[in-house]
Amino acid sequence: MLSKRSPCQVAGHLRKRRTRGGAPVIVIPVKRFQDQVVVVTGGAKGMGAAVSRQFVEEGGRIVCLDIDAEAGEALAASLGASCLFYAVDVRKGEAIREAIQAGRGKFGPVNHLVNSAGVQGYSNALDTTEAEWDRVMEINLKSAWLAARETIPDIQSAGGGCVVNIASVNALHCQRNTLPYATSKAALLGLTRSIALDYGPTVRSVAICPGTVNTPMLEEALATFSEPEKMMQEIRDISIAKRVAEPEEIAKLIAFVCSADGSFMTGQAVRIDGGLGIEIGGVGNS
Ligand SMILES: NC(=O)c1ccc[n+]([C@@H]2O[C@H](COP(=O)([O-])OP(=O)(O)OC[C@H]3O[C@@H](n4cnc5c(N)ncnc54)[C@H](O)[C@@H]3O)[C@@H](O)[C@H]2O)c1
Repeated sequence: MLSKRSPCQVAGHLRKRRTRGGAPVIVIPVKRFQDQVVVVTGGAKGMGAAVSRQFVEEGGRIVCLDIDAEAGEALAASLGASCLFYAVDVRKGEAIREAIQAGRGKFGPVNHLVNSAGVQGYSNALDTTEAEWDRVMEINLKSAWLAARETIPDIQSAGGGCVVNIASVNALHCQRNTLPYATSKAALLGLTRSIALDYGPTVRSVAICPGTVNTPMLEEALATFSEPEKMMQEIRDISIAKRVAEPEEIAKLIAFVCSADGSFMTGQAVRIDGGLGIEIGGVGNS
């Protein structure tokens, strides 16, 4: 049990205290986002849900926007009074505005925005239809701008905060037949830089570029292959880490970026990918 007389000075994420005998070590979790309001698009599942849980664990309040009402309501029920869920199609600017206004009305002004809503789009320049192009661009790219437009004034008034856009390693490298997806993710880096430049230093903006992450999106992608487990093994094998990431690993990085610990980071694309793409292939010495 922790002593009520423990000093409460907070210097970092975790504060350690030793007993006189040198052990045991008590680790006191520090709530870096106490009463801060965080909007998460696509927050019902996958990385967005992990981000929502991470911020709540650290004292934050989540305004979760997602098209999947069942998953969103389940997440909100599990997080209790610290999470408000709004069923929103993030392609619609008015719907985003109304949801964020409602969240602001209950929790107060927004401190950070995490854009996680996204869909895959597998095609090439000749086969992509206009409808597919628009769907992927609107969900992966336009929604991030729309949500930023609704939250930047709050972040400015608060005196600082961060807009995080979850892009992908596909923003930096390409796989065949991923034209709509790769294009949308590369453009997110431009959006990130523009927000950082136009509204910095008060508003920071950082793009996160994950490699493969164990989420429903990955499950859906694997299900399209005749041998999903074989494909999964190939995915593991192409990174140095020889595994995929868990969504919580991405959420912890995003929390760091939004916190005071990440206050020197802005305008950048940050990779978290297990070393994907480091090996260029060709003739080596081993
Ligand atoms: N999983 C990966 O391997 C991976 C890797 C790199 C980047 N990403 C990106 O990370 C982000 C999160 O991906 P994830 O793997 O957690 O995916 P996910 O499918 O598990 O979660 C995405 C969420 O976005 C929501 N969403 C989709 N369309 C929407 C719409 N029109 N309106 C509102 N919400 C909508 C979904 O309902 C879902 O809850 C995405 O932008 C994705 O492109 C994923």
